Amino acid sequence: MLTDNHGRPVTYLRLAVTDRCNLRCLYCMPAGGLDWVPKSELLSFEEILVLLRVASSLGITKLRLTGGEPFLRKDLMDLIRRIQKERLFPQVSITTNGTLTAPWVPELKSLGIHSVNLSADTLDAARFARMTRRAELAPVLETLDALLHVRLPARINAVIMEGKNEEDLLALAELSTRHPVGIRFIEEMPFNGSGGYQPIRWNWKVMLDKLREHFPTLEKIPDEPHSTSINFRIPGAPGTLGIIPAYTRSFCGTCNRIRITPKGMLKTCLYDEGVLDLHAMLRHGAGIAEIRSAIVQAIGHRPANGFEAETRRRNHEVGESMATIGG
Ligand code: GTP
Ligand code: 5AD
Ligand code: SF4
Repeated sequence: MLTDNHGRPVTYLRLAVTDRCNLRCLYCMPAGGLDWVPKSELLSFEEILVLLRVASSLGITKLRLTGGEPFLRKDLMDLIRRIQKERLFPQVSITTNGTLTAPWVPELKSLGIHSVNLSADTLDAARFARMTRRAELAPVLETLDALLHVRLPARINAVIMEGKNEEDLLALAELSTRHPVGIRFIEEMPFNGSGGYQPIRWNWKVMLDKLREHFPTLEKIPDEPHSTSINFRIPGAPGTLGIIPAYTRSFCGTCNRIRITPKGMLKTCLYDEGVLDLHAMLRHGAGIAEIRSAIVQAIGHRPANGFEAETRRRNHEVGESMATIGG
């Protein structure tokens, strides 16, 4: 098993298949979108599969496909079919905005996909349109219905922003009393694609206080090992609630995650600026053994936490979009 220089096992790879997105969430990118990565610079499916085979051989057991919006990548399902055919990872999950996902849900279930995380910051159509700058709530809810219908484990990720969707904390929490779905509230991070970041009011503590105020019987439930979220349940509810201190970064001590960006950069922390250009290595003809040892070496130099990763950046300000990084 891969272990980093702080003794943390590294078993989880998040791979972003594209930086493109059909939504424009306020906390993720500007209204005009990003300078999208030219398609020729994206990892091809063949390159992705080479990297995934290496990751699998290094002991990665959990893969999450992300973006941007992964379903914007043409023929994403072909990639998923190939990954599952090779049985590369015991657990393959997807994070999607859900706008294009519903038609694929039955096949995702039959391919053995472990779970699907949906980004949905509100259940109110008007607020959804303001938060994402697109009126697309209906297809997202269709995806949620489809996931529940085929019993594919679903989580909802909601970033709570001051003055934008504060009331949705409670409305979304109530959804957990009706459906077996995990609702997770996320602290806003500075990855908004435009720089400039105001200190957040809605940190994990404020969110938890608000939930406790409205659901006084809220009970703590065990967190999975390496969980990003602190988890709770409203007694008797089929679903769960979680809070992700993504900006406070209190979970770095148990972080088991590495990332590969759409351009093929390896990141050993969400807050670093990319530590190894895997795409360049592939293009320059590096062999499997060389790629393996470069990854092992990078994992041997991981920052202890997101704060150290930030201070190691040449450009200290964190301003890139979550879509460029890959969630
Ligand atoms: P599960 O596999 O369901 O536990 O999901 P996950 O939390 O690993 O993945 P998801 O794509 O649902 O990410 C949810 C949020 O967790 C992201 O938007 C980030 O806010 C946060 N997150 C995930 N990984 C990290 C990390 O390494 N550092 C920080 N600071 N936040 C992270
Ligand atoms: N801060 C916190 N979470 C973010 N996400 C995207 N941008 C940000 C940000 N600036 C979340 C989305 C998605 C997940 C992968 O990342 O809500 O669910
Ligand atoms: Fe798209 Fe996700 Fe960014 Fe929203 S958070 S704009 S859905 S990539």
